[in-house]
Order: sequence, then structure tokens, then C-alpha cells
Amino acid sequence: MAILETDGLTKRFGGLTAVDDVNLTVEQRETRAIIGPNGAGKSTFINLVTGLLEPSEGAVRFDGNDITGQEPHEITQQGVSKSFQTASIFPDMTVQENVRLAAIAAERGSFRFDFLKRRDRFDVVDDVTEEMLRAVDLWADRGVEATSLPYGDKRRLEIAIALASEPDLLFMDEPTAGMSPEETNATVDLIEQLQEDLGLTIVLVEHDMEVIFRIADRIAVLNRGAIIADATPQEVQDDPDVQEAYLGGVEL
Ligand SMILES: Nc1ncnc2c1ncn2[C@@H]1O[C@H](COP(=O)(O)OP(=O)(O)OP(=O)(O)O)[C@@H](O)[C@H]1O
Ligand SMILES: [Mg+2]
Repeated sequence: MAILETDGLTKRFGGLTAVDDVNLTVEQRETRAIIGPNGAGKSTFINLVTGLLEPSEGAVRFDGNDITGQEPHEITQQGVSKSFQTASIFPDMTVQENVRLAAIAAERGSFRFDFLKRRDRFDVVDDVTEEMLRAVDLWADRGVEATSLPYGDKRRLEIAIALASEPDLLFMDEPTAGMSPEETNATVDLIEQLQEDLGLTIVLVEHDMEVIFRIADRIAVLNRGAIIADATPQEVQDDPDVQEAYLGGVEL
């Protein structure tokens, strides 16, 4: 069964249709890239699925359940997470405290119903914090203040924060933006490793074609809010509509 399905998903901002009747299906454990020119609607699409924006029309199904219009924290608790940019990091807290706080936030819903088991819950929080810090290779730096991490490490910390809710589906919006070639390579390796170790499904928006061709199983191409191609990297590369609309004759 598909892990994620959107059905006629549409978002209008006044007269602008930023996301236009998008039907997208993502399979379990797939790495799906979403590409398209600036302003194509990629971030808006992610915000619709993760609950940060409410759709004008259409539906979102996760694991077969309709999650359309739910609050972000409700969607997170069902297993969908998004790696935010540095805004989600508390700079004065340590690396470990940042991830722990996110793990507590993710557990909070269960506290209300399960407060007698509070102790167990805190053990879970500590275990998850350690697992995710190890997964992004920041366990050795757990005591470091987040603010003093190098850029690439900060981005990995954001990923660990997103993983603290133990998602099945992780969205990443331009995970390698602003990274050096070395940091980009390390991030690609990390994404592949997360998928193997945690069994994640990953949907990523990315401008770096080299990154996309290395890790994407399928690529959806958005143009002016609409999907104009949804295929394997090779098929997308050979698609004349994509070359015309998006790549503008650029050789891949
Ligand atoms: N909150 C908003 N209010 C009004 N218009 C918006 C809002 N958010 C996005 N838009 C518009 O919707 C369109 C799609 O924007 P979006 O940020 O989703 O594009 P994108 O594909 O992520 O672009 P980029 O590659 O530059 O990140 C753009 O025209 C943008 O100006
Ligand atoms: Mg964007």
C-alpha cells in the first residue's frame, strides 16, 4: 500500500494557484524527489501535507488514513515529519537537549492517556534521543551547544530533531542547500543510511541534480503548481516536456 497519497490537492493564495490539482503517490521506503523551478509550489505542497497550510481543495492520505486539515502535531504523531531549517534549533541548548526536547514533544500526546507509565516514557525519550543522534553521527557531540556546531552539523541536528518523533515518512526541503561539496556528499550518504537503518520513506525537494540522480527512486516535476512528470530519473531526464518547462535545455 502507498504510504502517502494526495488526491486533487490544491492551494490557492488569492488569485494564485500555488498547488494545482496534485495527485501524488509515494510508496513505502521510496526516496521521492520533487523538483521544479523557483515558485513551482514545492514547499507549499510539503506544507499542505504536513499540516502547516490548509488545502483549498483535495485530500491527503497517510497510511490509508485521511489526514487532510489536521494540525501539524497530529500529523507528526501519526508518523510524518519534516526537517526544518535552523529555525527549529534552540541555539543555547546542547545537541542532546535539542533532540530530547523534540522527542518529549512527540511523546506528549501519549502522556495524557498514559501518565502512570511516565517513567517508561522518559526511558523511551532517552532511547530515541540516543538512537537518532547516533543515526546522524552527532552522538559524540551531544554535549556541545548547538550554536557552536559547524553548518553541516547544524543541518544534521535538524534532521535528528525531525527524527525524534520516529517518523515513517520524512520530508526534507533542500537538505543540501548552502553545503560544501563534502557536506553534500555526507548528507547524501546519511539519507541513504537513514533509509536502510530506520526504514524511512523520504520525500525531498532538492535543486542539486547530482544529489537527485544519486538517491531518488522516482522524481515528480512540478511546474506552476502542477505535476508535469512523475517517473524514474532516467525517464525524467529524457522527457522533452521537462526539458522544455524546467531545464531550459540544460544538459543533465
Ligand atoms: N503564504 C503565502 N502567501 C502567498 N503566496 C505564497 C505563500 N507561500 C507561497 N506563495 C507563492 O506560491 C508560489 C509557490 O511557492 P513555493 O514556496 O511553494 O515554491 P517553491 O517551489 O518551494 O520555490 P523555491 O524553489 O523558490 O523554494 C509562489 O508563487 C509563492 O510566491
Ligand atoms: Mg521552496
